[in-house]
Amino acid sequence: MKSGLLKNVHPEKRFEQVYDYILERIRRGEWKEHEKLPSIRMLAAEFGVHRLTVFKAYQLLKQENKVYVRDKSGYYVQPGSLLSPAAQQDPIVSAYVHESHLSEIHQVEAAYQFSKALLDPNLLPNRYFSEYVKNVFDLYPKVLGTYSTTQGDLELREALTRYFTKRYRFDLTHDEVLITSGSQEAIDLIARVLVRPRDSVLIDRPTYSPAIDVFRRQGAHLVPIGIGPDGYRLDQVEELMKKHKPRLFYLNPTFQNPTGYTVPAEQRKRLADLAAEYRCLLIEDDPCPDIYFGHEPPLPFFAYDTAGMTIYIRSFSKYVAPGLSIAMVACRPGLMSYLVKAKSLSDSGTPLLNQKIFLHYFFSERMQRHLEKLRTALAIRKDVMEEELAGTGWEWKSPEGGFNLWIKLPESTPMERLLVTSREQSISFVPGSICDPLRELKTWIRLSYSFLNEQQLREGLRRFAGIYRELTTGSNEG
Ligand SMILES: Cc1ncc(COP(=O)(O)O)c(C=O)c1O
Repeated sequence: MKSGLLKNVHPEKRFEQVYDYILERIRRGEWKEHEKLPSIRMLAAEFGVHRLTVFKAYQLLKQENKVYVRDKSGYYVQPGSLLSPAAQQDPIVSAYVHESHLSEIHQVEAAYQFSKALLDPNLLPNRYFSEYVKNVFDLYPKVLGTYSTTQGDLELREALTRYFTKRYRFDLTHDEVLITSGSQEAIDLIARVLVRPRDSVLIDRPTYSPAIDVFRRQGAHLVPIGIGPDGYRLDQVEELMKKHKPRLFYLNPTFQNPTGYTVPAEQRKRLADLAAEYRCLLIEDDPCPDIYFGHEPPLPFFAYDTAGMTIYIRSFSKYVAPGLSIAMVACRPGLMSYLVKAKSLSDSGTPLLNQKIFLHYFFSERMQRHLEKLRTALAIRKDVMEEELAGTGWEWKSPEGGFNLWIKLPESTPMERLLVTSREQSISFVPGSICDPLRELKTWIRLSYSFLNEQQLREGLRRFAGIYRELTTGSNEG
């Protein structure tokens, strides 16, 4: 950062900028544990600010246990406060690497993948894909020679607008729709546009682990709110909104990942009102509302929101066509223009071919009929998993939709050893702590029933339960 750069920053805010600067460098691993930090005098000169401004930033970092002081010597990086293991190991990569725990788990090959909340590719109507692809080339012979617009193909945005208006009572125009390459990109764009370091972000506890990593990377102050089988405690939500004035609330209210819980309809209206009252944007991540085993879930928050405070993200990756990586974001035009600008900085639009194939495939009668079969297949797999785990003494609430069981293991579970031994025996699962913004929940795990067929589920779960027994009782006998 160059000298005098903060001249145009309001004096009250300058110390925050210095604070962010120091924190970011520690986070990236450029300044290492126990390393001496630049002196107050040096930083004040570099930023062109008063020494007291830098002093204030250091004091806050000290309070937060990110730096420590040695008498008459200066400030030093507190060990273990921020650095990811990757950053500690590789100083060159460290400046660019941010923590992403779930992807690390997915990178490990395993014969029994209980960690993947993805659809088994065998459950998709694969035989018919080539028909759609051929159709698309017949209809749009120049499709490979053309970019999409950054906001997304107009024909697709219009079709989605009609679909969401009819099916979910959305009040929507195609200008309020953005196509992204998966909802992961959408979360990232939203975070980049809306979250500045130390902004408060309200977030489900537990939640979709990569969202934690994205908001953390932005330097957000995460404010966890517990989600249970009956949704939220609304008095708690209101208290947190009042106290922290969060910029946004990231939530996944329908068959939540990892818990499978659904926020009931009556809470949705009230939450939309609270969001409007406290000017807190609701980021509604909704990757699997079609995967229900009994009743259809309630309408999305977006349908209840009359104040324009909701950004709705719908992935079509999870069960329509993971290989196409298509998701939709819906929000009001003021916000949309920022998201489109942010997307234009990372790509020139999601590939047009993917958008056109998705358009013809998703809105076909065959796909819509296929959803019915998919629900049945996944309900059976869930039942198989529950049956296999019935004798274990583990606890869970049977989900009414989605891809996962969220399981509480006994307090005495040696989680680290369970992870390592399972991995050695080619079994993967998601430890609950990575879904927790507080990194606690150490005796919870997420097991997905969506990726393996029934036979693999049975075999893998028997082995997994066997490993657990052996670690906890010394016997592998079921
Ligand atoms: C809650 C949630 N959000 C986002 C994603 C990412 O979806 P996509 O594959 O569209 O990037 C997932 C995928 O597991 C998810 O469960």
